[in-house]
Amino acid sequence: MLFCQRWAVLVSVLLQVAIAKVHVPVTPVSTDRAVTFQYVENTLPLAAQTHEVIMVPKTSVMLVSQMSNSVLIKARVDRQGVFQHLGAFQLGNNSSGLHGLAPSKAYKGKVWVTLQNDNLIVLLDPRVDDISAAPKVVKVIRVPKPGLGPHYVGEYGDELWSTMQTSSHVLRINHKDTDVYSIYKAQPKPVFIAKHPINGMFYTGQDDSSSVMQINPKTGETKQIAIPVNAGQTPVGMISGPLGIWFVLLGTGEKGTGTFGHIDADGKVKFHKLSSALGANASLLHLAIDPHPDISHTIWFLTSSIINPKALDSVIKVVFNPTYSEIIKEEVTVLPTQQCKAHRIWLTDTTVFATELTSSKVFAWSKAAAAK
Ligand SMILES: *[C@@H]1O[C@H](CO)[C@@H](O)[C@H](O)[C@H]1NC(C)=O
Ligand SMILES: *[C@@H]1O[C@H](CO)[C@@H](O)[C@H](O)[C@H]1NC(C)=O
Ligand SMILES: *[C@@H]1O[C@H](CO)[C@@H](O)[C@H](O)[C@H]1NC(C)=O
Repeated sequence: MLFCQRWAVLVSVLLQVAIAKVHVPVTPVSTDRAVTFQYVENTLPLAAQTHEVIMVPKTSVMLVSQMSNSVLIKARVDRQGVFQHLGAFQLGNNSSGLHGLAPSKAYKGKVWVTLQNDNLIVLLDPRVDDISAAPKVVKVIRVPKPGLGPHYVGEYGDELWSTMQTSSHVLRINHKDTDVYSIYKAQPKPVFIAKHPINGMFYTGQDDSSSVMQINPKTGETKQIAIPVNAGQTPVGMISGPLGIWFVLLGTGEKGTGTFGHIDADGKVKFHKLSSALGANASLLHLAIDPHPDISHTIWFLTSSIINPKALDSVIKVVFNPTYSEIIKEEVTVLPTQQCKAHRIWLTDTTVFATELTSSKVFAWSKAAAAK
């Protein structure tokens, strides 16, 4: 009896479902989203340490320095950031310590490199026409005493500025007349140098001293700007950018603070702190200005496990308000290979590149070809 009643209920429910006219609307929606991105890890010849990366201006040739064996990589790169053809050349011998890379304007198509352990700054013709062709040494500048250990090099008009990582100096030398130079005593250890776009001062971050040195190029006067303990420590990456100098704090072997600084035209420092879950305590190693900073209001940061094995290796896109005074948005993209001690970041119109120090790879993140 009970069984029959249950059947009756079920049949009546089924009839109701069949009879009721249920309208399920189907409506086209927009497929118009931002472009698709692709991620590639370009493999290089194995080396204990892969460091700097630059694109030779107006070419599709990328140069990468492998410091541990003093090898320069030349790569032809396609629109999607994929290395199509590689050449590798040892500069000096395996202990020469190739590190710094910088394009030259004074010598078109040439690049400056530092051989940190040989105490040399060298102008190279990278021979972009032929990836297999060995770069040609055009000019060799011996670092004057007491300078020792050229790390970063940058060309500013007739001058080169270089950090002496071993002796803790900043060298400024005329590349047309190398008898004309100045050496400024820094605190341990200067890493990068940037020229202020408004006040013309030079700045260097000293990563073992938690201090930034300002050099007045007219008077030669130097001044230390201490990093407040509550902001963090270990200034590393430092670049000239929108409305001033931008630099990051790496933190300690245990912890980062997701903090970076901006030096305004009066030499005053304002610190910004990331607030997203993966950004807040990030170990920031380096940074790069977006190719179109006036439109995008964007700075790209690289986080690294270089001194803190618990830190993420990632790229953080940070969007600011138009005056670059406030952070509007943070987007974190982790590198596929973690614990790689991500080292440098380089941007083109279509691609974000990052070197992975310990895995001998160059990460590339680009707008996919299929995007219309
Ligand atoms: C590398 O070259 C430097 C400078 O010429 C020299 O002092 C050093 O002994 C060389 N090292 C090796 C391993 O050949
Ligand atoms: C460096 O070169 C020296 C001398 O040519 C060689 O004995 C040594 O194995 C090389 N070291 C590395 C790390 O390649
Ligand atoms: C950042 O570190 C602080 C102190 O170490 C901790 O309290 C906080 O939860 C961390 N924030 C995030 C987002 O992980």
